[in-house]
Amino acid sequence: MSQEKVFPEPTVLISSEKIDRRIDELAAQLDRDYADTDGLVCVGVLKGSVFFLVDLLQRVTVPVEIDFFQTSSYGGTTSPGEVRIRKDIEVSIRGRDVLLVEDIVDTGYTLRTILDLLRFRGARSVRLCALLDKAATREVVVPIDYCGFQIDNVFVVGYGLDYDERYRNLTYIGVLEG
Ligand code: PRP
Repeated sequence: MSQEKVFPEPTVLISSEKIDRRIDELAAQLDRDYADTDGLVCVGVLKGSVFFLVDLLQRVTVPVEIDFFQTSSYGGTTSPGEVRIRKDIEVSIRGRDVLLVEDIVDTGYTLRTILDLLRFRGARSVRLCALLDKAATREVVVPIDYCGFQIDNVFVVGYGLDYDERYRNLTYIGVLEG
């Protein structure tokens, strides 16, 4: 008998209206904080950050450039938290203001790795903007300069976040039970 995957209806945790309002606030704050920049390099991490990055950057008025990383993390006991860069950014960030835009900070390994790399490459400033902060599962310290929402240790999908590649295009953040 075939074992069909089950994709249940998520429970709404953060509505699209609430996301919208919070992104308005974050964009206004970014405009204030980067009012003097000569251009902000906004870096997303594929694929989860895409929806948030697009909606956020459509609302900021300071000049921006956009580029993307893609990473994969190795589980396992020999190299816990080891993050591999599968796709690197192409823009030069030496002497630039860089804003890393992410959908969620969970263990923190992905963002820690990328933040360290961006600083190593000589960015003038590096800040992190994350839509969701799941602090209960954090394993390494990652300062979040701009945070959308703090969430509990629940499995969230939607607005970029997936379960087995599903649910990314939901307009809200939902919780999958079980
Ligand atoms: C998710 C998320 C972050 C990372 C956070 O990406 O978008 O990049 O995990 O987890 P961490 O804090 O435990 O390192 P994922 O690897 O699931 O890829 P995706 O964005 O393509 O779904």
